[in-house]
Amino acid sequence: MNKIEFRRGRRCLRLRFYPEGILRVSYHDKQNIQTDAVLLEPIQPQALERKEGKLEEEIRWQDLRIVVNKKELTLKIYDSFGLVQDDQEIRTGAKPGHSRMRKWEAGVYGLGEKYHWLNLMHHTMENWNTDALARVPQHCTALTAMHTAINFYLGVSKERCVGWYYDNPTHTRFSFDHGRGEMAAGEGEMRFSADGGFLDYYLMAKRSPQEVLTAYGRLTGTSPLWPRKFLGLQQSRYSYRTQEELLAVAKRFRKEEIPCDVLYLDIHYMDEYRVFSIDQKAFPKFVETLQEVHKLGFTVIVIIDPGVKLEKDGHVSLPGARPEYFIQDPKTDKPYVGVVWPEESLFPDFLQKRVRDWWGNLHKAFVEAGIRGIWNDMNEIADFSTKSKTVPTRVTHRDDEGRLVTQKDMHNQYAHYEAKATQAGMRALLKNQRPFVLSRAASAGTQRLAAVWTGDNSSTWEHMEMSIPMFLNLGMSGFSMVGSDVGGYAGDPSAEMMVRWMQLGAFTPLFRNHASIGTRHQEPWCFGDEAQAAMKKAVEMRYRLRSYLYSALWQSHQEGIPIMRPLYFLDQTDLRLYDVNDQFLFGDHLMVCPILRPGQRQRMVIFPKGEWVEFTTGKRYTESVAIVEVAFDQIPVFVRAGAVIPLDMLSQFDPEGEIDELELIYFEGTKNLKTKLYFDDGQSFAFESGSYRESWIHVEDGILREEILQDQYSAPVMKSMKKR
Ligand code: NOJ
Repeated sequence: MNKIEFRRGRRCLRLRFYPEGILRVSYHDKQNIQTDAVLLEPIQPQALERKEGKLEEEIRWQDLRIVVNKKELTLKIYDSFGLVQDDQEIRTGAKPGHSRMRKWEAGVYGLGEKYHWLNLMHHTMENWNTDALARVPQHCTALTAMHTAINFYLGVSKERCVGWYYDNPTHTRFSFDHGRGEMAAGEGEMRFSADGGFLDYYLMAKRSPQEVLTAYGRLTGTSPLWPRKFLGLQQSRYSYRTQEELLAVAKRFRKEEIPCDVLYLDIHYMDEYRVFSIDQKAFPKFVETLQEVHKLGFTVIVIIDPGVKLEKDGHVSLPGARPEYFIQDPKTDKPYVGVVWPEESLFPDFLQKRVRDWWGNLHKAFVEAGIRGIWNDMNEIADFSTKSKTVPTRVTHRDDEGRLVTQKDMHNQYAHYEAKATQAGMRALLKNQRPFVLSRAASAGTQRLAAVWTGDNSSTWEHMEMSIPMFLNLGMSGFSMVGSDVGGYAGDPSAEMMVRWMQLGAFTPLFRNHASIGTRHQEPWCFGDEAQAAMKKAVEMRYRLRSYLYSALWQSHQEGIPIMRPLYFLDQTDLRLYDVNDQFLFGDHLMVCPILRPGQRQRMVIFPKGEWVEFTTGKRYTESVAIVEVAFDQIPVFVRAGAVIPLDMLSQFDPEGEIDELELIYFEGTKNLKTKLYFDDGQSFAFESGSYRESWIHVEDGILREEILQDQYSAPVMKSMKKR
C-alpha cells in the first residue's frame, strides 16, 4: 500500500508518500507524472495511522496529520506546529486549482524568475514561458510571466517552512492575498489555478528553508557541479562578429590583466543564422581561432537556438533531419513554420527521444573544436510571427509512444527538453569532461540540466537592483547557477553603473557581462581608467574567492541549497530579514551589500544576529543596522565573525587541474564556525566515483582544525593563516 484513495462521484483524491517526508496530493487517478520534473518514486509509508470517522478521516504520517473531508475531498494538514494548510475550495475539471488559507506565513518565496521583490505576498503571478522583451519595452512588474515556469514556492515563518510543488505542465497562476476574478485571493488566502492538467502537488513541511530546498532537490534534482572554469568571468556581446574581434577581446583581457575565463559567440558566428553552421566569411579559421583563444586560457560558449532555418527549397540543412522531427501544425499537417532570426524556421520536437539524440549529436563538430559550453536561447519558444511572440498553442508534439501532445501542455517544458538534449549530447561527446549549458527558459527540474540568466534586462539602476530578488527567488526555486546580463542588455550603462554592476556580478554565481547589438561596448576597458581599475579589483576579488564559491556550488549540487541566499537563511526568527531585497548571503559566511544607486557613497546595512567583519577594512559590527561608507571601487562584503575564508592565489584564468596553494583568513569570533572546503579536478566526472577532497575547517584555540570527509584528491597547501 503506497497510496490512500478517496472517491466522491467522479472526483478522486489520492495521497502518496515519498522519501524526505514528502506528501503527494493528486486529484486524479492517473499513474502518470505530468512533467519531467519529479525524480522520486512513492514509498511504502512506515508507521502510518488511519482513524476513520463518518465525515472525516485522519491520517498520521511522520510529523503530518492529514484530515480529509470525505464529502468535499478537501484537506486540513497539520505539522507539529499546527495548521499548515486549510483547503477552502478544490476545483477539478478543465481549470483545476485550489485555494487555501495561508495565515501563518510571514513570507512567500520561489516561483522561479519573477520581476518582483523577494517576498511574493500581495501579488499574482503566472507561469507561462515568455520572451519577455518581445512583449514589453522593458522588464517590469506588470509582466507577471517571464522566461521560466517553476511551480514551486515556500512559505516561511519563525518556526517552520513549507514548500509546495505543483506538477502541472500548463499555464498556471498563483495569487497571495491578491488578484481579480478567478484569482481573487482574500486576506490570508492563496489561490492556484491551471489551464489544464490536474491538481497534483507535493508538500514538504519542514523546519527551515534549507531543509525544504534539500527535499525539493531530492524530488526534482539539484544543480550539476559545473566545471570550475565557468565560475570565472564570462564576457559576451551580441555579437563578436569576426574571428579577429573575438581574438582581440581575448588578448585585451590578458593585456589589461583582468581575469576572465569564458567568451561567447552570439548568433553572428553562424551562416545566416543556420544553427550548427559557421559563417565562413567572418570566421574562415574558426577552429584555429578557437585554438588560439584556448591557448590564452579562455573557453568559448556558442549560442544554439531552437529555430532551424527553412531553406527556400522547403528543406532544412541539418544532416539527418526529417519532417517528423519538428513540431507540427495541425492546420497543414506539416511542420509548423514560425519566424525567428533565420526568418522562416522549424522547431525540433524535443519531446521525442530520437530527436534529442539526433540534436545532441549535432554538437560533435563544436566539441571537436574544443567547445564545452552551449547557450540555449529563444526557447520559450520565441516566434516573431505571432501576437504572443511564442509559437501558437495549436502546434503539436509527439511523445515516445507516438501520442500527440499539444503545445498547451508542452510549452513550459520545451526548454527543459531542449536542455536535456543538449546536456545528454554534450555529455556523450565530451566523454569524461563536464559540459556547461545555459538556458533562457526553464521549468521545474531544469536546474539539474542548465544554468539560467534573466534574459534581456536594460542598463538601468532599477534592473540592477531588481536582479537581486530575482536571483534569490530563482535560488529558492532550486536554481543555484543564476546571473543577469551585467551592465544591462538593452541601453547604455554609464561608467559608474558598469562598475557597480560588475561589483554585484562578482558575487553572482553566473558572472556574465553581455550587451545587445547597437549598444555601447561593455568590456571593462571601455569606461576609462578609474572605472577599469575598479572593475579589475572586483573581478580579482571574485577570482580569489573561487575555491569558496566552488565549495558553495558543491553544496548546491549535494544539498539543493543555492549559492545566493536570502538573509533569513541565517535567522528565521528575525522577521526584518524577510523583506531585505538589496543584500544577500553568498555561500555560508559572506553577506554582500551592493551599491545600487548613482552617486551613492554610503548605504544602510541590516545585520542578522551575531558579529560581522567587513572583508577588506576589518571593521567590526555588532549592531543590528548600520550606515557604512563605501568607496567607488569597493563593494561592502561582510564576513561572519569566526569564519575562515579560503583565498586562491590570483590568476588570470582557472588553473584547471590542481589548486596548489590557498591563503586562509580567519575573522576572529564565534567558536567552531565551520567552513566547507571542496576540491577536485574542476572539469571531469571523476568526482562521481569519489575523486575529490571535502572537509570542514575551523579555528579552535587559535589553531586551525580540519575534519576530513573525503580524501581522494590532493589538498592545496594552506599557506599561513592571517587574522583579521
Ligand atoms: C535574445 C537573448 O536574450 C540575447 O541575450 C541574445 O543576445 C539575442 N537573443 C541574440 O541572440
